[in-house]
Amino acid sequence: MSLEKIKVLQGEIEQFNITDKASLEQFRLAYLKREIPALMGEIKNIAPESRKEYGQAVNTLKTLAEEKFFSTQDALDTASAGSQTSGLDFTLPTIPHELGTIHPITLVRNRIVQIFERLGFAQADGPEIEDDWHNFTALNFPPDHPAREMQDTFFLEKNPDIALRTHTSSVQIRYMQAHKPPMRQIMLGRVYRNEAISARAHCFFHQVEGIYIDENVSLLDLKQTLYHFAKEMFGAGTTVRFRPSFFPFTEPSAELDISCGKHNPNGCSLCGGSQNICKGSGWVEIGGCGMIDPNVLENCGIDSEKYTGFAFGMGIERITMLKYQIKDLRLFSENDVRFLRQFATI
Ligand code: DAH
Repeated sequence: MSLEKIKVLQGEIEQFNITDKASLEQFRLAYLKREIPALMGEIKNIAPESRKEYGQAVNTLKTLAEEKFFSTQDALDTASAGSQTSGLDFTLPTIPHELGTIHPITLVRNRIVQIFERLGFAQADGPEIEDDWHNFTALNFPPDHPAREMQDTFFLEKNPDIALRTHTSSVQIRYMQAHKPPMRQIMLGRVYRNEAISARAHCFFHQVEGIYIDENVSLLDLKQTLYHFAKEMFGAGTTVRFRPSFFPFTEPSAELDISCGKHNPNGCSLCGGSQNICKGSGWVEIGGCGMIDPNVLENCGIDSEKYTGFAFGMGIERITMLKYQIKDLRLFSENDVRFLRQFATI
């Protein structure tokens, strides 16, 4: 009778489906804790001649149950350890990897470089923290020139001889000091002015400066160069106007205006039809220029009897605003992705 019971239990143990920790525990309680110990407790009631056979059968059953218990326990432990260490849910949707866009100032900067490179201009660079001599004195600024005053320039508090450069013209000076003509360079970079921030002014912005120095460089070369630049940058229909002006470092000096299209049949194209940039005049200023003052050449060790040169300086933000009809200068430095994303396909 008892051997039959063992047989039944053996079948049950073999069939028992352990799928998780809970069913493993059920198995342990049912067989290792209850049925098998009960069978063992029976031994004393078995007739002595059958006891050996019975004992062996119970032991075999016990081994069978224990092996099943331990091997299943191991398998369940390994499975749960594996899922814990990877910790990954492969069903989660992926986080999209967004591509950035090129900043409009960089786009225009690159285009400016490209246009001037084709005319043979190479690039030069200089520091943003400058001394008075490179930023003002060497450029022929008299000691009492208003541009030196505190409201325009960020001077270093502890050393008023040092300032954040107010224009890229300081790089002209550095380049002319270090090289001999002929030279044809553009200098691009950030400049700083102590101005209240508004839609039309900022305390920092970008300029592109250019110089061409050689024997017999004339005003005609200057005009032709900038005329070519304007057409390349703003389109073949663009015209340029040179307005007499004054800069300490050029003589004669001019301000450079480009036509915004007001006088075209299609209207004010650069102003976006609104005429709010040209203020109805049809002309927009993009920079200054002139023939380099002989004093400036001499300050940098260049023989002004032998060489002449032209220089120009333009605001990159201004050019960018015209090119893309951007109405507020502050957009360039606010990093608003809604603004920046619009340049993804340009
Ligand atoms: N430095 C001038 C400014 O910041 C711009 C400028 C005008 C640069 C005439 C030049 C130049 O090289 O010839 O307003």
